[in-house]
Amino acid sequence: MGYSMIKRPFHYGGTVDNVHFCNRVKETKELITDIDTGLNILLYAPRRFGKTSLVLHTLKQTKHQTIFLDFMSIVDTDEFINEYFNAISKSLNTTADKVVDFFKKVLGIRPNISVDFDTNGSPSFKLNFSSNESKIVLKEVLELPYLYAKHHNERVVVVFDEFQEVVNLGIEDKLRSVVQHHEDLVSYIFLGSKKSIMQNLFFDKSKPFYKSVKHIPIDKIEDDEWREYIKNGFETYHKNISDECIGDILCVSKGFPYYTQQIANELFNTTIDTVEPEMVQSAIDSLLEKEEDLFLNEWNHLSQYQKKALKLLIYAKGENIYTKETMATFNFTSSSLKKAVEGLLNKDVIDLKSGKYYFQDPLFELFLERF
Ligand SMILES: Nc1ncnc2c1ncn2[C@@H]1O[C@H](COP(=O)(O)OP(=O)(O)OP(=O)(O)O)[C@@H](O)[C@H]1O
Ligand SMILES: [Mg+2]
Repeated sequence: MGYSMIKRPFHYGGTVDNVHFCNRVKETKELITDIDTGLNILLYAPRRFGKTSLVLHTLKQTKHQTIFLDFMSIVDTDEFINEYFNAISKSLNTTADKVVDFFKKVLGIRPNISVDFDTNGSPSFKLNFSSNESKIVLKEVLELPYLYAKHHNERVVVVFDEFQEVVNLGIEDKLRSVVQHHEDLVSYIFLGSKKSIMQNLFFDKSKPFYKSVKHIPIDKIEDDEWREYIKNGFETYHKNISDECIGDILCVSKGFPYYTQQIANELFNTTIDTVEPEMVQSAIDSLLEKEEDLFLNEWNHLSQYQKKALKLLIYAKGENIYTKETMATFNFTSSSLKKAVEGLLNKDVIDLKSGKYYFQDPLFELFLERF
């Protein structure tokens, strides 16, 4: 077994499943029921919160044919067409020849499809068309999941990951009209990491996707679940961690999946047999160091008022921020504070829950506290 093959109990970066997947039992169950019922689903949460992992983990437990498209890297309509076409083709799970045959059968346009094979022999599909055919090809490609479902008489699930990026492509209206009449055979799952844009797309009456989905909220993973998960992870490899040390991890990560895994992983690597409390602190320090550039970049993208408002939020612990004393301490008027807070909400830096403002990214908060 090569070094890179050595298994570790904790993992961060990319999606996780199996031994690396903690809890989300309730969400998984709800998702399965909704998918089976044929609902379209909206799910948004901050970056690195476990959206993609949850959905892939769930879909593995269903028998539905799944098409997965990540919008993140897609910059224009033509690229969307090709990426989507390729995603559909790959998901059909049959030989390249049969895929091409199927498309020839169902597509109205005369498709010019080329197939490439990578070194592992897995095919990638490309639809060749000229730019003046773009519109019609888009329409056809959007219909493909439905045509497939109809042809095989089985439900198809389409996952659009990082869907907020669709606003840069300007194809929302077309997508919406298609999604609408696929209802009986294709379920769409819209994932996004920009709450403000996703809410705008789905909850604003004037926007194409208004009320077309069921929103499933996802929360952080509960402390008790993490406790068991982290303890197990260490014990499997004959290492020990006390409840107190786990508490210290969770106090900083606030149950945020990526950071919880990252701290646990760092600790696991530096522990020979038992985790000592100071090791937790140095794991956290090293994590902050690693993320410093990212946090500084986020900080530099804020206005002066927004920066000041974040300091105020830390000072007031997110509560009763409009009291005279608090505002005076930071030289805010209520209207200037309100404007700054709105800006921070729109930028997804903070959020509001039960009347309390909190940082979407718990490590960014800690970074600023120590700033
Ligand atoms: N259920 C889970 N159990 C344990 N760890 C998890 C879980 N879900 C997510 N994670 C951790 O969070 C990280 C990010 O997960 P994932 O990529 O699914 O999140 P995401 O919300 O899709 O992120 P992004 O916005 O970057 O696409 C994983 O690498 C893993 O460390
Ligand atoms: Mg993701």
